[in-house]
Amino acid sequence: PLPEPFGRALPVPRVLKPVRTEPGTDYYEITQKTGTARILDDLETPVWGYDGTFPGPTIVSQRGRRTVVTHTNELPVPVVVHLHGGRVAADQDGYPTDYLHPVTGRVADHHGGGLNGAQGTRDYVYDIDQPAATLWYHDHRMDFTGPAVYRGLAGFHLIEDASEDSLGLPSGERDIPLMIADRSFAADGSFLYPSTDPSLTKVPGVSADYMSGVLGDCVLVNGAAWPELEVKAVRYRFRILNAANARRFRLRLDDGPEFVQIGSDQGLLAAPVTRTRIDVAQGERFDVVVDFSGYAAGSEITMVNERGDGPTAQVMRFVVTGPAGDDSRVPEKLGAVEELSGSDVVATRSFTFRRGGAKAHGMSLWTVNGEAFDPETVLATVKLGTVERWTVVAQNNEHPFHVHLGAFQVLGNTSAGHVDEGWKDTVNLDNGGRAELLVRFDRNRGAAVLHCHNLEHEDMMMMANFEIV
Ligand code: C2O
Ligand code: CU
Repeated sequence: PLPEPFGRALPVPRVLKPVRTEPGTDYYEITQKTGTARILDDLETPVWGYDGTFPGPTIVSQRGRRTVVTHTNELPVPVVVHLHGGRVAADQDGYPTDYLHPVTGRVADHHGGGLNGAQGTRDYVYDIDQPAATLWYHDHRMDFTGPAVYRGLAGFHLIEDASEDSLGLPSGERDIPLMIADRSFAADGSFLYPSTDPSLTKVPGVSADYMSGVLGDCVLVNGAAWPELEVKAVRYRFRILNAANARRFRLRLDDGPEFVQIGSDQGLLAAPVTRTRIDVAQGERFDVVVDFSGYAAGSEITMVNERGDGPTAQVMRFVVTGPAGDDSRVPEKLGAVEELSGSDVVATRSFTFRRGGAKAHGMSLWTVNGEAFDPETVLATVKLGTVERWTVVAQNNEHPFHVHLGAFQVLGNTSAGHVDEGWKDTVNLDNGGRAELLVRFDRNRGAAVLHCHNLEHEDMMMMANFEIV
């Protein structure tokens, strides 16, 4: 049986300490390995985790410094580490076939090839030069991202900078990341994922009934089922991430205050925006401040998911314990957000995300402009530093659109409930939705991917290559 809601304290992932620091550079080490999580009341759940935990440890980088993360792969399969939202060098970004093979030896992919990449250990070098933001890192291996993330390969990577520090936002123990994801469990306590090949080495994909995506019946926050957080009657900053494979959440605080949104995927908004509810698609981040100061000791405030039903309609609970001092604030001006203008557009493109056009194993795949992902085919060549206007259309399902190495602003989105302020790297699209984006890649050249962040769609080929030149 699933645990009773609100019976467990919210875990906060530990912040990873550098193993060494030099002028300008911080060095970290992570071992990817199996571990166990205590999510259910009487059974352990095996996980694949960064340092064996789910979520992995939180990395905190300072803008203007280099972060080097040495990953060691003690898992039985190749891995790829993607820094989601990172505007980093293309060869450090976690391209889906840029493998880190297990310490025990290279593993061919299901085509018999795919032995490229490193073995055992490799460094990911991130020259951090982007505004303070809530990023995350997760596995991105070709064809197997869905099951690998489902088993636990996801963690936060926060970027801090001096201008954010000067604002006086809630900080320290009052700045808490919330990784929201759904999971189902098998009778033995393991995560239940309908992989065609549970060894995750030979045949990719899930059985036909799960083509639309794998949904769970249990909502986890930071790896705990429907947890509870004791709060003082003060302001808190929550960094909300939807790390689910296929579930989109519509969050609201029942019997509670509104969310004051201060940031989106790529960092702070220009000014705070008060919202009653927030739709969060897979991969999106929302930084919010919640002010509990109007609430008496003992007040219980439930974060609900208005898009869920039954057990998935609840997410977590806050319990107010009593008053405390609070010198935090939410200033009227937050970040310096440059507004892109349509008159700067040098190229326009359109991408249709739908089912069909290409087939594999007798199933019709999820495609971009009718094409299944092919590492050899480049769908677009974009000039570094220029602004392009991209139209993204979603058909046959919801498709959260994500682009690597760059950022965009949303000019328009016909989807219901979307929240698109600020610089984004992921945008929520309803089935039948259409979004107009102003996109810019302004840091690094190289090959990258755009894809749907429904991880089953991504694994079933809803991804395309583009090149920044
Ligand atoms: Cu979070 Cu290419 O993904
Ligand atoms: Cu999709």
